[in-house]
Amino acid sequence: MKVLNVIGNNKLTGSIRISGAKNSSVALIPASLLALGQTTLCNIPNISDIDSLEETLVYLNVSVKRASGSMLIDTTNLENKPIPIELTSKLRASYYFMAALLGRFGYVKMAKPGGCQIGARPIDQTLKAFRLLGAEIIEEKDAYIIKASALKGNVIPLDMPSVGATINALIVATLAEGETIIENAAREPEITDLVLMLNKMGAKITGEGSSTIKIIGVSKLIGCNHDVIPDRIEAGTYTIIGALLGNYLKIDNIIPEHIKSLTDELEKMGVNIEIHSDYLIVDSSNKLMANDINTLQYPGFPTDLQQPMVALLTKASGISHVTENIYENRFMNVPYLNEMGANITIDGRTLTITGPTNLHGAVVKATDLRAGASLLIASLVADGKTQIQDINHLLRGYEEIVEKLTNVGAKIEIEEI
Ligand code: EPU
Repeated sequence: MKVLNVIGNNKLTGSIRISGAKNSSVALIPASLLALGQTTLCNIPNISDIDSLEETLVYLNVSVKRASGSMLIDTTNLENKPIPIELTSKLRASYYFMAALLGRFGYVKMAKPGGCQIGARPIDQTLKAFRLLGAEIIEEKDAYIIKASALKGNVIPLDMPSVGATINALIVATLAEGETIIENAAREPEITDLVLMLNKMGAKITGEGSSTIKIIGVSKLIGCNHDVIPDRIEAGTYTIIGALLGNYLKIDNIIPEHIKSLTDELEKMGVNIEIHSDYLIVDSSNKLMANDINTLQYPGFPTDLQQPMVALLTKASGISHVTENIYENRFMNVPYLNEMGANITIDGRTLTITGPTNLHGAVVKATDLRAGASLLIASLVADGKTQIQDINHLLRGYEEIVEKLTNVGAKIEIEEI
């Protein structure tokens, strides 16, 4: 088992460069199957979620070449084969292959998708979108078979602005006949990034970044070159670390607008942040003030930064409340934070955090990706040594996390035990 050993309380100085966005990349890679020929994606992070998608590409007889952040995908020999559970269980985004194969071939069989255990995570909105576009769905115990004699554009009113359902609907509608309107669409930057790539391939999509996206179906797409946007959740995670330990810490290669909901909250808490066009500088403050946080869809405060933020709030003076509105089970970091000395109570979807508390090292577990980030942040400000177990969850989403933190002065290493 791989564990992360962290010795806390070291000031961090220097620069951390943010990688390409995980949640963009995991949509762009499957979506590239819609296009004929070669697509080159640059700024793809080197994380295990991408390795999992690469395995699926290779299984589908797609040629993949990876070199320092780029991924060349050639779909010339693509085969539409049933995708087994071993390939779908590792991550939620595997179901974007379902949309891509349905869009391209009008038929797909795929085992059900996996992903972090942070709530029930139903996919009813994706299935609703597929049906509205003309598909018939057969649900087996562990798999879906989805077929359509013809995919036809339609109005798709989503019950909630689901990121996954918006992406799946976009992917299928791009090659469907006629006009599709996605109502109540998610507005996350990763969706805008996907639309940018699809339009470069020849798609006709407008309205991305708003709640109404319009797609005029086209008969084919041709591969293109595309640069993935920087990862706003990775940027946010390191900015929070900087708020605790930064000594003029630079967070480089960011789109400040994408993390505005975070930087606004940090400024309210008394954190010093200088925001520039594509980087920010953050200094720790020993006078952090409590704050109330509510997670919301973009442009609200992202659920993916909720757990990292809770680690920060344990060091703030006063009583903070954090309400998680997106997932019903995203507090699995809390018992471990309390073991480390935090004072957090859970009432339904709301946490009450009383601070500041002195944190001390402990043996803890990363139960999911962002819980792992939360525990890492806590361990970096804790007295003594923390051992974080099950770090595979953490390595799914943060490229070169040990190297990036070591370079700015953290004492952190991976150990095989
Ligand atoms: N929902 C439904 N029905 C659906 C779809 C969603 O009820 O058909 C509910 C979910 O249960 C959840 C909420 O709506 O409570 C949000 O789900 P959404 O579909 O928006 O999320 P997702 O596509 O499954 C993506 C990211 C998550 C991120 C969320 C919200 C990827 C691969 N995953 O998930 O990222 O938390 O959007 O921003 O893009 C992470 O990176 O750690 C992560 C979990």
